[in-house]
Amino acid sequence: MVGGRLEVILGAPWLFVHRRWYLPAVSRVRVAVLVSGHGSNLQALLDACAASDCEAEIALVLSNRADAGALERARAARVPALVIDRDGQDAAGLLALLTRHGIQLVVLAGYLKKVPDAVVAAFRDRMLNIHPALLPAFGGPGMYGRRVHEAVLASGARLSGATVHLVDEQYDHGLILAQWPVPVHPGDTAETLAARVLAVEHQLLPAAVRACCRQVLAGSSPSGLYVAGERFVPSVQPSQPLDHALIPA
Ligand code: GRF
Repeated sequence: MVGGRLEVILGAPWLFVHRRWYLPAVSRVRVAVLVSGHGSNLQALLDACAASDCEAEIALVLSNRADAGALERARAARVPALVIDRDGQDAAGLLALLTRHGIQLVVLAGYLKKVPDAVVAAFRDRMLNIHPALLPAFGGPGMYGRRVHEAVLASGARLSGATVHLVDEQYDHGLILAQWPVPVHPGDTAETLAARVLAVEHQLLPAAVRACCRQVLAGSSPSGLYVAGERFVPSVQPSQPLDHALIPA
């Protein structure tokens, strides 16, 4: 971006030839992941970002819980992993950390605290959350973890799934960017349903983060990804069971 603008300002087309020589190429978006727990979604992101063509670099992991397993996963991947205040309400401290680490995109992956409004505003359209149900159903205050799956089962819904959405000032409310449905089977428990949803979360979150990073690298906002009203739903593979195809891509 900066390089491109500089070339236009200087009006010196020959500089383009030497672009990599005078300015480093910006090819990866610096991503912070906020976590509170086990960190299997963080692991999926770390694994995806190990690929040389990944547009995202997990540059920082923050947890409001010192005992979160996710911190160990981050450290094993040699990513800076820090503990913030338990309530996650120190907006100035959080912003300072994100700024110091040059963070361009924030991902909430199993982060159980509400992000302060000032931080949401600073990362407007640059903060994503993953939720283990098909929003706008089964979201909102108090809807996390096992409670989500219990509510889905109690409702009699035949479908659940995972949703990646932009974060705004309300719980589970921002623009939906990506969804992946899974069936609810007769006899499911909260545990069996959670495991089925988590398996698709691990594919959906990296795909959505990478798609958003491509937008950031192109200089546009992730909210512009699906302005045509389309939602990113990974295409159904022929090898998948038929019940994955209940909602067409
Ligand atoms: C996931 O189900 C995610 O959707 C929800 O919290 C859970 C986190 O799991 N927000 P993990 O810590 O990534 O294993």
